Amino acid sequence: MDGRPTKTRLIITVDGPAGSGKTTTAKEIAARLGYRHLDSGALYRALTYALLKADIPESDWAALTVDDLSGLGVRAEASVAVVDLYLGDALLGDELRTPEVTRDVPAVAKLRAVRTWLLDIQRRLGLRGSLVADGRDMGSVVFPDADLKVFLVASLEERARRRLLQDTGRVPTASAVEAEAARIHARDAIDSERELSPLQCPEGALELDTTELEFEEQVGAILKRVIDLTE
Ligand code: C5P
Repeated sequence: MDGRPTKTRLIITVDGPAGSGKTTTAKEIAARLGYRHLDSGALYRALTYALLKADIPESDWAALTVDDLSGLGVRAEASVAVVDLYLGDALLGDELRTPEVTRDVPAVAKLRAVRTWLLDIQRRLGLRGSLVADGRDMGSVVFPDADLKVFLVASLEERARRRLLQDTGRVPTASAVEAEAARIHARDAIDSERELSPLQCPEGALELDTTELEFEEQVGAILKRVIDLTE
């Protein structure tokens, strides 16, 4: 001990573009530290799913208020390791990953009322620390005072390949990778160019290009920073 104060119950943010491996990485870091994991993308997906399920047409989304959104019945409940999302009494899982939800979520995530409502929910989940939160604006907007900020990047092709492998469990064909890369590129463009909380590398973040890294190497690089902060 050298007398420096030690930090515990950290807030760690992991941001990055679509398919950069944020969620898998954040989940693993949280598990190793005994922290809770927040997948903020799932919150935006849950709202999108609720809007689609309620048959509210896209042309009406821009006029929705925070009250309208909270009336949809989406709830976040923190357990020890994760944040579970519900629509009414139904626990949400695979329905958040359908092509329809993935296609429409950037349009929902652009809306001011959506970001206002979810900002409050996310900050409350971070009040006690011991959180690893992944998304697009975790380090820049939601937790600007986070103890450690990470920004993950990887080549577009590698992100498309990993996404397909994760979704199908099979090595994808070159044409499937090309089509997925185009979809990811379009989603990144909307997320990076929007006015509110655009996707960006937060100031002071550890930027990791994972294109050539094994999963264990990228987890190790982040945990090393955590150890530097806590020892
Ligand atoms: O990470 P995931 O692919 O599940 O995110 C889905 C979408 O949710 C993103 O494309 C983005 O539009 C939105 N999102 C966001 N801010 C976050 C997390 C996700 O705008 N912090």
